[in-house]
Amino acid sequence: MDFLRIVGGKRLHGDVAISGAKNAALPLIASSILSKRVLTIDNLPHVKDIKTLLKLLQHLGANYKLIDNKAHIDTSMINSTTATYDIVRTMRASILVLGPLLARFGHCEVSLPGGCAIGERPIDLHLKALQQMGAQINIESGYVVAKAPQGLRGATIIFDKITVTGTENILMAAALAKGTTTIINAAKEPEVVQLCEVLQDSGVEIEGIGTDEIKITGTERELLNMKDFSVIPDRIEAGTYLCAGAITNSKIKIKNVIPQHLEAILVKLQQMGFEIDIDNSSITIHPASKISPIEIVTSEYPGFPTDMQAQFMALALMAEGASIIEERLFENRFMHASELRRFGAKIQLKGNIATVFGPTKLNGADVMATDLRASSALVLAALAADGTSNVHRIYHLDRGYENLEEKLQALGASVERLQE
Ligand code: UD1
Repeated sequence: MDFLRIVGGKRLHGDVAISGAKNAALPLIASSILSKRVLTIDNLPHVKDIKTLLKLLQHLGANYKLIDNKAHIDTSMINSTTATYDIVRTMRASILVLGPLLARFGHCEVSLPGGCAIGERPIDLHLKALQQMGAQINIESGYVVAKAPQGLRGATIIFDKITVTGTENILMAAALAKGTTTIINAAKEPEVVQLCEVLQDSGVEIEGIGTDEIKITGTERELLNMKDFSVIPDRIEAGTYLCAGAITNSKIKIKNVIPQHLEAILVKLQQMGFEIDIDNSSITIHPASKISPIEIVTSEYPGFPTDMQAQFMALALMAEGASIIEERLFENRFMHASELRRFGAKIQLKGNIATVFGPTKLNGADVMATDLRASSALVLAALAADGTSNVHRIYHLDRGYENLEEKLQALGASVERLQE
């Protein structure tokens, strides 16, 4: 198993190009199931989750070629509608094939994704919405068995909770349904917006893109004439590199980003005292003369993203005073706190609220990654710590960060990938 050895305490410098967004690419790859032609998707990040979903499509009978950051996906030969346990268990987002498979074939079987390190994460809202669209759904031997022999029909879906992949699944299902589907309390994340725009460019009628009420008129099972497109930049990867600049009090520039997607993150960095310069597609962070503590409450977009909570917990260790971080989306997303303590961090947890006491002098340590974003918080702390750290179980990081060590090395960090 690989691990990262990081010698901390070095200032970073220079610039780093941000990759395509994993969380945008996943639903977009799933949407190729709705395409009547070979679809080319550009700016895909080379990360494990993307390869897992492409492999899942291949298991269903689809063909793909991945050349550099471009995938050519041909789903015309799909001859199976079963997403098996061995793939789904490795990546929860595999559930994104449920909506498009059911809409195109009128039936499918998708293994239940189950729990994960950051909490229960049920899919009840996805299933309830599909039932409202006419699907019969049963759970059999750990599989969601969904049937809609006459096709799905438009419905008014009111999500009790805002769900990103739930909204995406229903968007894809509705694109091939009969009639109009209205999604109320829809997710507004940029990744959802790109999926809407791609469906719209494919001829699907969609109103309310980027709002919490989206109306989609389906094609009655006619496959879509999908156009090729390029995946939007990864706002979470971008935020993570900004935190790498901040935690080492360095000046670095991140390129190939959409700054508006990072607004909530930039506001928090500015409140902490970091000066930020924003260009059309790049952001520069400058060192702070004094790092102030912050208060963060995670919420849905455009609020502060839960996927940046762990990285800001690491950064808060540098602040002069106590920072308060409240996690509102997931019930068990503070696993990084105990690992951060190995570096010397002082963090108090009470339910879903963490109090982080700074400033703390961090010392290199052996730590273990527990989930994707928790792992990036450990890398950040290691960059700031005195001495050598080893971050173990980095397969979590490989799920979502393209060329992590190469990018950090280019910024002047001392990082190497070794084998246990
Ligand atoms: C997506 C992102 C993930 C991010 C999360 C929140 C992808 C591939 N993953 O995950 O990185 O952390 O959004 O921004 O895009 N819920 C239910 N029932 C459901 C569905 C969700 O109760 O059927 C709850 C969840 O437990 C959670 C909340 O709703 O408390 C939000 O989850 P959701 O937006 O669905 O997260 P994901 O789409 O899985």
